[in-house]
Amino acid sequence: MPKLPTYQTDHQTITFNNSNRQIQLTIITPEIIRVSENRGDHGASYAIEGDKETTTTYTVKQQPDHYEITTTALTIKVDAAMHIDAYDANSNPLVTDYRGSRTPLDRGIDEEHKKFVQEEGHNVPGADDQNNPDYFQVVKDLAPDEQIYGLGDKTGYLNKRGYEYDDWNTDNPAPHLENFTRLYKSIPVIIGLKAGHPYGLFFDNPYRSHFDFGKENPNYYFYSAEAGNLNYYLIGGKTLKDIVTNYTYLTGRTPLPQKWTLGYQQSRWGYSASQKMVQDIVDSMHKYDLPFDVIHLDIDYMRGYRVFTWNDEAYQGNPQKFVTDLKATGTKIVAIIDPGVKKDPGYNIYDQGIKNDYFVKDPAGNVYVNQVWPGDAVFPDFGRRAVQKWWGKNDQFLTDMGVAGIWNDMNEPASFQGEIPQDIVFSDHDQPSTHKKMHNVYGHNMAKATYDGVKRATGRRPFVITRAAYSGTQKYSTVWTGDNHSIWPHLQLLIPQLCNLGISGFTFAGTDIAGLGSDATPELLTRWIEAAIFSPLLRNHSAMGTRAQEPWAFGEPTLSIYRKFLKLRYRFIPYLYDLFAKESKNGLPLMRPLVLNYEDDPRVRNINDQYLVGDAILVAPIVQPSQTKRLVYLPAGKWIDFWNHREYDGQQDIVVDAPLDKLPMFIKQGTILPWGAEVDHISETPDSTMAFNVYGDSGSYHHYQDNGLDFKYQHGEFNDYLVNVDHGQVSVELVHHGFQPYREITVNLNNQPVTLTYNSTTEHYE
Ligand code: GLC
Repeated sequence: MPKLPTYQTDHQTITFNNSNRQIQLTIITPEIIRVSENRGDHGASYAIEGDKETTTTYTVKQQPDHYEITTTALTIKVDAAMHIDAYDANSNPLVTDYRGSRTPLDRGIDEEHKKFVQEEGHNVPGADDQNNPDYFQVVKDLAPDEQIYGLGDKTGYLNKRGYEYDDWNTDNPAPHLENFTRLYKSIPVIIGLKAGHPYGLFFDNPYRSHFDFGKENPNYYFYSAEAGNLNYYLIGGKTLKDIVTNYTYLTGRTPLPQKWTLGYQQSRWGYSASQKMVQDIVDSMHKYDLPFDVIHLDIDYMRGYRVFTWNDEAYQGNPQKFVTDLKATGTKIVAIIDPGVKKDPGYNIYDQGIKNDYFVKDPAGNVYVNQVWPGDAVFPDFGRRAVQKWWGKNDQFLTDMGVAGIWNDMNEPASFQGEIPQDIVFSDHDQPSTHKKMHNVYGHNMAKATYDGVKRATGRRPFVITRAAYSGTQKYSTVWTGDNHSIWPHLQLLIPQLCNLGISGFTFAGTDIAGLGSDATPELLTRWIEAAIFSPLLRNHSAMGTRAQEPWAFGEPTLSIYRKFLKLRYRFIPYLYDLFAKESKNGLPLMRPLVLNYEDDPRVRNINDQYLVGDAILVAPIVQPSQTKRLVYLPAGKWIDFWNHREYDGQQDIVVDAPLDKLPMFIKQGTILPWGAEVDHISETPDSTMAFNVYGDSGSYHHYQDNGLDFKYQHGEFNDYLVNVDHGQVSVELVHHGFQPYREITVNLNNQPVTLTYNSTTEHYE
């Protein structure tokens, strides 16, 4: 029998040694175990901040041919060949090493023919570079009944099985279809269900990496990286929800946002070239009675695309007045900032960066230049604290103007003259490193710098949007899915894409509604606003040069339908905000794949055209042209049609009508939902009343309220209401009272309103 490795324990770390490897297991919590092997890379994690290790009891047992490391939730077996196999508390295999060797895909091509095929523009994936001495791979068994979710913003379908992907943040505006292997974000976490048993696997290594989920061979999946340490986390839990909660315990959760950020946002590349254009959009929003909170300023507001400048002349010499006046009428401005700084001696940001040595350089020590919007541009070295601080301070230029949020773009980083060479010197936690290592965390560090800067300058919960991200960026920024197109496949894509982002920690996400590139049609715009109406980030954005797609661009009936859905969105903002309050504690996303709530039901394991909003709402959008009826699968429970209140039993398929102005939506019976007042924007004055709708005759619901703006809630300045309905008996209790309570609460029970008034003496609703 081969000899087992030796081992030593040091607190919660067990180090296994044999003649050629040293592998460590670290017990982080009973449900999270880290597997690592030092392969010479330095530097702390970008995804995980602070010490996540909690005191956990575990045992190490020696069996004849393996060791068993056991916590209350997980057992890891380590054998003589250092295979690592993880099991849940009932001995079900979760993540086990594949014992065979890989059989790379035969693509039926040799080097000579590859050239011709590529000349016509076809992409021929290369074999992975196993000759690279830094390369490593992790190959795990794939069970016949195994589904793989997560991985952030990748294209394709909810279940990633059968597909391959890369993590190398990429700006590619060609239509993102299921054969795209990489997009803007690297979020190397998979959330799996193996024969119905949930697990998570997080590969925390920023180097370029590759995932193959049974495409090469249905018996295994693998992860490989070009360099870096072997460093992955095995995550257990009783349910898929536990896995997401554990993963976001490690990498962090989206903090409670300002409430207005949940409002509708209108954008287009080109608007911001003049004050008049922006004002016209604002006026039209009012004229057409469309509720909204934000107008975005794309790159055109700057002086020659110089970041942290404003083309004052186009804003009557006083953009600050414009922004402040808009704010007074309830419209907030979010402005874009790209990382590329125009190479332009005399321009203060460039000069400061050069003087302080803040830009990345080539190995010979020359500041590295590539091209982005402003032409020749240089790139801040965001892996340095000092550079992050400087950048964050620059954001004050915008916040002082009254700008309410910052949109970070092009931070993969994108560059128009070819990719930045791998050897350009970028810092890694203040130590010299390379673009090769820092590429995938560039956007993360920029978003973090922006978050910190805005927080320092305003004291409010920063509203940052970023295109590039790494695991953990959710702590600092919301995300959008980048440059999609006005095509039906991209409307369909938003469901699995936002659902996978959600379970990968990024709940505050959205798509460019109706598509950035290509030309929208009235029907596409209509179905898109319907499908996306619960996406946390709700922004219509399009590229210069495409057909206009504002809500009024196609006249009627598009405008009226669009308005109807925006009004519906505002009714649900209190519910979405409640979900954020919960998410900031448990990491569970707002927009969810059905499998997250109903993992035992095989029918929901790859549903790509329905989603849940929290636990209570099931949405089944139309994602194809000319369709006016559709099949909807209702999972366990009883469901109530939102529009006609008809009741359905779950675990069945039903056919529903979906004329152009209808989004099929169902509410789970036994739920209570807050129902906001009809408003034209989210006011900064606290609401004095609130309504709740009851679906069924019993239920209970926690509702959260605070000022929706700053961090006072962290010091107890919030209310937690418990609304209870028991066979028609209504009660409301202030479980936590730290904020000015609603004067009046109305509970709508089968269309019979029950109104309770707050008695400030007894502190009860009566
Ligand atoms: C990028 C962004 C897009 C933006 C454009 C101009 O393509 O993804 O949203 O409009 O740049 O700034």
